[in-house]
Amino acid sequence: MPQLSCHHLLGIKALTDADIELLMSTSAEFYNVLQRPIKKVPSLRDKTIANLFFENSTRTRLSFELAEKRLSADVINFSASGSSLSKGETLLDTVNNILAMKVDMIVLRHSSPGAGIFLAKHLPRFKHSAQARIINAGDGTHEHPTQALLDAFSLQQSLGPLAGKKVALVGDILHSRVALSNMLLLQKMGVHVELCAPPSLLPKGIEKLGVRISHSLDQTLQRVDAVNMLRIQEERLNVQHFPSAYEYHRLFGLNMERWERLQHKPIILHPGPVNRGVELDGRLADSANSIILDQVQHGVAVRMAVLYLLGQQSTADTGIHFN
Ligand code: NCD
Repeated sequence: MPQLSCHHLLGIKALTDADIELLMSTSAEFYNVLQRPIKKVPSLRDKTIANLFFENSTRTRLSFELAEKRLSADVINFSASGSSLSKGETLLDTVNNILAMKVDMIVLRHSSPGAGIFLAKHLPRFKHSAQARIINAGDGTHEHPTQALLDAFSLQQSLGPLAGKKVALVGDILHSRVALSNMLLLQKMGVHVELCAPPSLLPKGIEKLGVRISHSLDQTLQRVDAVNMLRIQEERLNVQHFPSAYEYHRLFGLNMERWERLQHKPIILHPGPVNRGVELDGRLADSANSIILDQVQHGVAVRMAVLYLLGQQSTADTGIHFN
């Protein structure tokens, strides 16, 4: 049976072309399962998965939980509020205690970039956790690999094979983990990626990653097959990066005026939550060109694929393997 080359899903960088192909084809299989009247399969019935959310989430948390239940895993949920974190316990101690209850996989959302990488490095020291698999569900401003995988899967469903296609990521590139994971994944899949944002919301030197940079949304929209509209990460802004939400919408928001002028209209993606009237006009979010709710639907199938592939591995292994 084909397997992933990595033991955790911490980011996109470690994925090989074969891994990406395997993830996409397995997602398609689970997508078909989800169209059946009985959407549940027994694949992970011997596994226990803990969802550890140290940061707010609606879609990602529910999507992971549903994916785990569709795979028949036992599921436990943890959120930072109401936990012993407020009593001074470290992340490593919290996770190690959870793993001592014989948990096989950890889905981790955390506000610190690299939180999952840190855990993967340190857990093998503990006898209970040697084989635990870690999935990054968003680590601060760093990466959000399952979001990128579901975005790529959704793009494939709408556009066909992605090599040679043009996709723009628009908005708060500086603080968005969705942007970095998308950039890395789409480029590996042969997509021409364009970033469109005010200079204040672009990381310095980002063009070195081989992406095209634009400061004009009108020009970008004319060039691309798809546009992924990112939310301004208000919760991560510590200085003001643009004069006002109105000004941002006028220059970088996808509004009706801009849209009507377009001859060729791209498909519209958004990872959610949408700030209607800021990055995207509500009417466009609900329009025929928007695949925002398809992304949500595909998200469950993609997360089933990730959990299944890593879960199978943890059964087959006998030794301690950490990348
Ligand atoms: C994204 C996130 O949390 O990084 N949302 C999500 O996972 N669906 C994007 C965002 O919050 O803007």
